[in-house]
Amino acid sequence: MDPKKIVEQGYDKISYAYRTDEGTGMESDYAGWLAELTPLLEPGTAVLDLGCGCGVPEAQILAEQFQVTGVDISPVQIERAQALVPNGRFLCADMTAIDFPDESFAAIVSFYAIIHVPLAEQPTLLANMVRWLQPDGYLLMSTGHSAWTGTERDWLGAEMYWSHADENTYQQWLTDLGFEIIWVRFIPEGDGGHSLFLARKDNV
Ligand SMILES: C[S@@+](CC[C@H](N)C(=O)[O-])C[C@H]1O[C@@H](n2cnc3c(N)ncnc32)[C@H](O)[C@@H]1O
Repeated sequence: MDPKKIVEQGYDKISYAYRTDEGTGMESDYAGWLAELTPLLEPGTAVLDLGCGCGVPEAQILAEQFQVTGVDISPVQIERAQALVPNGRFLCADMTAIDFPDESFAAIVSFYAIIHVPLAEQPTLLANMVRWLQPDGYLLMSTGHSAWTGTERDWLGAEMYWSHADENTYQQWLTDLGFEIIWVRFIPEGDGGHSLFLARKDNV
């Protein structure tokens, strides 16, 4: 099956298993990460959340201060986000197929989502993110920490697909695209983990 269909149908099925309406106890992690971004932004500015899931926690936190647009490929996730974060704007779309006018957003966040996009499509997606960001705009994004592409037959109750490069590759891609990397951190999960980047679009 097309990897995008595996992901879409998978999250439709496991939306609640992945995160309840109240969250899963990881909300304080997200709040901590976002607390390093939000003071850098003017209140009321536009922020894009790619792979927003059910809107909890990041879109919900961001919508307290900013105009949030969330994008997700799963109709179930988007329906929940619309209900859980009524002051956000949510679009059901493939983040590699959607487009926005240049310089639309002061920041883009994306947590645990680009790792589901086929690797060959990720450099173009990152180039689009640069274009969608305003001058000096910020990117807060988790990526793979080590490289792996594959599927699991039963992840939380559905088949799921992941595809990611390693941290050094993401660092190189972001730098080549003109991002200044402010920090990168290892976020442990199980036997492995993810890398979390805070970067600024460099206009020099
Ligand atoms: C692991 S969940 C993370 C959700 C949320 N960002 C969070 O951290 O709680 C990954 C989300 O990315 C979405 N996603 C994966 N591939 C996508 C794509 N190509 N376009 C849009 N959304 C996608 C999935 O549907 C899913 O809701």
